[in-house]
Amino acid sequence: MRHLLSCADLDLATATAILDLAEEMQQVQSRPVKKLPALRGRTIVNIFFEDSTRTRTSFEIAGKWLSADTINVSAKGSSVSKGESLRDTMLTLDAMGVDAFVIRHGSSGAAAQVASWVKAQVVNAGDGQHEHPTQALLDAYTMRQHFRLMGNDGFAGKKIAIVGDLLHSRVVRSNVLLQQVLGGEVVLVAPPTLVPTGVETWGCEVTGDLDSVIEEADIVMMLRVQRERMAGGFFPTEREYTESFGLTPERLAKLKNSAGICHPGPMNRGVEISSAAADAANSLVLDQVAAGVAIRMSVLYHLLGSNEGAAK
Ligand code: CP
Repeated sequence: MRHLLSCADLDLATATAILDLAEEMQQVQSRPVKKLPALRGRTIVNIFFEDSTRTRTSFEIAGKWLSADTINVSAKGSSVSKGESLRDTMLTLDAMGVDAFVIRHGSSGAAAQVASWVKAQVVNAGDGQHEHPTQALLDAYTMRQHFRLMGNDGFAGKKIAIVGDLLHSRVVRSNVLLQQVLGGEVVLVAPPTLVPTGVETWGCEVTGDLDSVIEEADIVMMLRVQRERMAGGFFPTEREYTESFGLTPERLAKLKNSAGICHPGPMNRGVEISSAAADAANSLVLDQVAAGVAIRMSVLYHLLGSNEGAAK
């Protein structure tokens, strides 16, 4: 694998290999000395043009635990703030002999464009409303662990309800693509104003009635209401949104005992998810965060652990 730009890049064998290796990588997390020599001598630049807590930090930890040299660059504080273009910025850093870029950008397709310009390998850490492939992988990892704990293996027959602001979500697109490979059944739940154009081609059931799916779901993944990407009135008020699409204490009580609650974060507590749900015994939110490091170690190892993906 040369780049990871989209979950469409992953076939079943590759996705499963990434999930399986992440299980081994997660063992490093509980060791007193969290260091493997696997990527010694490799240089990874994490370049983030949008804010991030989970993704940026976990990629940095993942690189460091694999002994790579990791450098963080953000738009603020770089020459981007003086007007340098994305292409010139990336070619400048590439000329320094970087092995991989982990990039987050506000424009859909930015990661693929960067991959077409540079010699280094590229990981998409979120591009606009397009994709966030390592988020979907860590979600799948967390779900797989949860299903095992509940006495089941695999995704076949599992109902994964993804609820909320589908329109602005790169997480939903990556999850739908990955579950098409892994075999989970995705049901999308949103008000009509937050359903993306063309969703009928995604191969998922789409509904506006959360209460009709809540009792059957094996996983309920709540998506953040992305206020920063909303210029107009996508719903009347936050209170009304919560009444129809929030994981309220009342809906929490209707979940199957074996159901798990996911949220990619950051959460708007009291809007799409109540504190009762976020902190419930069956909340997997912090498991997702922990899985983020293991998955990113696995992805970096798959990309950089051999010379296969390097530019010729
Ligand atoms: N889920 C996610 O991408 O979180 P951050 O924006 O904090 O990286």
